[in-house]
Amino acid sequence: MPYYFLEACPVDDVPEGGKRRVQIEDYTVAIYNVGGVLYASGDPCPHERVSLADGGTLNGEVITCGAHRWDFNVRTGECYEDKGFCLKTHPVGRKDGVIYVGFWTDEEE
Ligand code: FES
Repeated sequence: MPYYFLEACPVDDVPEGGKRRVQIEDYTVAIYNVGGVLYASGDPCPHERVSLADGGTLNGEVITCGAHRWDFNVRTGECYEDKGFCLKTHPVGRKDGVIYVGFWTDEEE
């Protein structure tokens, strides 16, 4: 399925071990930096729609939601508490100090 990339934010805005909530056109995403590798998911949390990036805690590949402490893998999207609440993940690219997030052509957020 084809996808396209949209500019998200400067790479420096998401330091190693960090996360950031970014509005990209109609989409709100969380970008994570895990050991220098960037990942992106939909934000808010799929459980009760609290921001993962603003209230969560990132520990390696796992973001723990600040509301009810559910854990999600930011690389795979897996939700460890309930498989029915997985995160939507997005491809991430970087070029010339800028992060780009990929969206599929039939994307709905
Ligand atoms: S809102 Fe995130 S775990 Fe409940």
